Amino acid sequence: MNILAIGTISMSILTVVIYLISYYLSGSIVISIAIPSLCLYKIARLICTLITFPGSVKSLYYKFTLLNLSDYFVSRTLQHLTIIINSTNPHRYTQQTIENSIYFLNTQCRTLSEMKQKNDQQNKYHAQLKLLSDELMQIPQGESLDKLQTERKLRITSICKQLQIFLEHYAYQMSQQSIIRRFFQPEFLCTLQQRRIEILIQNNNLERHLLKTPSKETIDCLFIKHNESGPTVLFCNPNAGYYEYMFFDCDWFRFYAQLKFNIILWNYRSFGESTGSISIENCIEDGRFVAEYFKSKYSIKTLGAHGQSLGGMVAAEVAYQMKLSFLIVDRSFSSLGQVAAAMFSSTTIRFIYNCLVSWDRPNYLAYYNYVGPKLIIQDPKDEILPYESQLQTAVVRCHFADQPIKYSFKHSFFNQESTQYLKYFYSEILSRKHVLELCTSLQYIINLAIKINQVENKQESENNKNYIELQNDDDDIDAAKPILSQIYSFFSLIHYCGNSLLDVMHRQANPEKIALFFGSCFAFDQQDEGEFEKCYHNFEVACESFLESSHYYINWGYIRTHIRIIREKCRSIIGKFQQIKLSNDYSLEMTGYTNDSDLCKKNMLGELISVSCGHNNNLSREDTCLVQKFLLKNKLR
Ligand SMILES: *[C@@H]1O[C@H](CO)[C@@H](O)[C@H](O)[C@H]1NC(C)=O
Ligand SMILES: *[C@@H]1O[C@H](CO)[C@@H](O)[C@H](O)[C@H]1NC(C)=O
Ligand SMILES: *[C@@H]1O[C@H](CO)[C@@H](O)[C@H](O)[C@H]1NC(C)=O
Ligand SMILES: *[C@@H]1O[C@H](CO)[C@@H](O)[C@H](O)[C@H]1NC(C)=O
Ligand SMILES: *[C@@H]1O[C@H](CO)[C@@H](O)[C@H](O)[C@H]1NC(C)=O
Repeated sequence: MNILAIGTISMSILTVVIYLISYYLSGSIVISIAIPSLCLYKIARLICTLITFPGSVKSLYYKFTLLNLSDYFVSRTLQHLTIIINSTNPHRYTQQTIENSIYFLNTQCRTLSEMKQKNDQQNKYHAQLKLLSDELMQIPQGESLDKLQTERKLRITSICKQLQIFLEHYAYQMSQQSIIRRFFQPEFLCTLQQRRIEILIQNNNLERHLLKTPSKETIDCLFIKHNESGPTVLFCNPNAGYYEYMFFDCDWFRFYAQLKFNIILWNYRSFGESTGSISIENCIEDGRFVAEYFKSKYSIKTLGAHGQSLGGMVAAEVAYQMKLSFLIVDRSFSSLGQVAAAMFSSTTIRFIYNCLVSWDRPNYLAYYNYVGPKLIIQDPKDEILPYESQLQTAVVRCHFADQPIKYSFKHSFFNQESTQYLKYFYSEILSRKHVLELCTSLQYIINLAIKINQVENKQESENNKNYIELQNDDDDIDAAKPILSQIYSFFSLIHYCGNSLLDVMHRQANPEKIALFFGSCFAFDQQDEGEFEKCYHNFEVACESFLESSHYYINWGYIRTHIRIIREKCRSIIGKFQQIKLSNDYSLEMTGYTNDSDLCKKNMLGELISVSCGHNNNLSREDTCLVQKFLLKNKLR
């Protein structure tokens, strides 16, 4: 891993430098070892904090985000100004477009007026914008700009042009500066404060609350009212999320607004205007505090929690501890340490992470133990969270583990969740040797697909270097294409909740993914009314007919061999799981459950919706409909 190598080398150099300096300064060996160790520890902790809670490091992350947003905002403003100027002449804009531009500029002006403290740049800009806004306000509703008196048109255009010059000058200046220098420039547009004011002046159903926690910290919250007596959702931000930005970036608020759910938004400690220092425990404690505060203040009857990414963990803990009415965990992970381990394919990284910070808690247990309507939303091909570290797989591990799950610190330090489940799988389902064979065969097919993809891309851009190298295979590749798509289509029959085997493997098959995938098929299938077993049967039939009809692909002998291996191994895995299901021995040995333990276990998993929008994008319309269905089904509306 490149990042790891660079990290290790720079850390080593840094250690030596600090060591030399402190030795030079103190002349004592003990001090010269102690100081560098302390420095290193601090630096390593800062790195962990930056990765886990980027939003809490205001001087770095917030500034960086702000620069980006500010550039974007400036260019948008310029666009709107152009529209205004152009529409004073005969134009091709719709009335709506023009009104949007006017609204945009007026809102910006109002926002700046409301800001108590402004720096010079903001003051200058605001003064000019105010002139324009005053002119625009006087235009009667629905009147088109090109019908105005010439004099007024001229005034408007001239102010717009001045504003354009101002912003273009600013943009030019910024483009001439290095990113480091820009860091030290005063803030301009799109700051957290501006966005917050913008939210508050545009919506009259909002209340901002600055809560004082028992530990004397301030938590900045926003309460969005849609129905005083209706259900309310506590929204927990992702690790880089400020509610000020989330409000604009994220579709969930519109979703809940449509359903007439009230929404509680809040910033974690040290994010935005919230004070204090961040840690997982603090997040959870504050989440509870915020939820309890609003619950009693508004006598909320139905209060649920919805968390995105890292927020999923906070939401699950709060929902579990407070026995909330529902829980939605959106693209979240099992535990922070498992993410580190899976991302870098290294259990050492998880060990180091645990030595540095105490944030690797078994948060999946909160979700698993929560009793009530609960839903996981997950993208198996999430670009941030590898499949093995997603919450959906964590609950499957719990499902097959001895009950009740006994967590100890060893789990975190030595990545035992993974090893225990794999041990179970190898001993009860399919031996390690066979799993590895299955893995190799799957990888063969995946590589073929990757290769075809590459060739296709290369044919689009022929000047690519590797083109020659692959050219000899081209005939083969062309012949392989239809076969491969056939293979993919019947392989998609092996799936749970829309996740197919090859999708889950994505670009890299590994034993853990295989074990988790089949475990998920069986765990989630119980809610799917045996859908999996029906589909699997169809797969067997399709696979058989493929093997019979594909004799003549002489060059593709290997494919047939690999498909045979895959079919055989899948067969034994599924056979084993069916036996286990029949004899129920994974659910009956539990303690603490009554005769309908199976039913209990089934409920522990909750529901799963698979999405394919990546880690940060909005869900597709179809997927949000499924979430709505979940809420309806549980009579939460
Ligand atoms: C900055 O903006 C660019 C282009 O809009 C985007 O690709 C990039 O991810 C942004 N970076 C951050 C940190 O938001
Ligand atoms: C606005 O008008 C200018 C000329 O005055 C023209 O070059 C430009 O393309 C127009 N912009 C748009 C978005 O129509
Ligand atoms: C508000 O919530 C109450 C209680 O859930 C419900 O009966 C009512 O229909 C809701 N009103 C609207 C406008 O959704
Ligand atoms: C099964 O559980 C139900 C309720 O949990 C209980 O009423 C019933 O007596 C139990 N039956 C047996 C055979 O334990
Ligand atoms: C999500 O949707 C909102 C509109 O509801 C949009 O403004 C925002 O840019 C979208 N976010 C992403 C990451 O696409």
